[in-house]
Amino acid sequence: MADIFEALKNDHKVAKDIMRVLENTEGASKERQENYPKLVRELLAHAKAEERTLYHAMLGSADSQDEATHSIKEHKEMEDAMKEVSDTEMSSSQWLPKFRELKELVEHHVKEEEQEIFEAAREVLSTSKQNELGAMYEKEKAVEDKKDRSDFLP
Ligand SMILES: [Fe+2]
Ligand SMILES: [Fe+2]
Repeated sequence: MADIFEALKNDHKVAKDIMRVLENTEGASKERQENYPKLVRELLAHAKAEERTLYHAMLGSADSQDEATHSIKEHKEMEDAMKEVSDTEMSSSQWLPKFRELKELVEHHVKEEEQEIFEAAREVLSTSKQNELGAMYEKEKAVEDKKDRSDFLP
């Protein structure tokens, strides 16, 4: 069973792989139409499950609550960027620039989580808590994966 950090890193990789595919798509191609909703669903489910597990735990400690608050704020910024992409026609030449803005936000956020936030979390969470949160994350993610995301989709 993966601890919370491994579980989160695995899903970061899933999102990065989908973004890499999308960056090389053109117009309203089948590849773009199939992979963009996949990315939206993955990012939202990941962020929600991450907030309910890791960030919920980090908010409980004075030594990590600033990091948690900062990350949750970035989740909101990613949601806004996602809505902007979804409001742009896939056939438009503006789609790729908008998508790249979202991609940069996600990459910045993920890098910060993996390089700084997770380290701050390790300081305040016991090993058993890290394992417990990993199992909780997988459950929460499975619930989130089934949710309706039409508000965020084109
Ligand atoms: Fe996050
Ligand atoms: Fe994350």
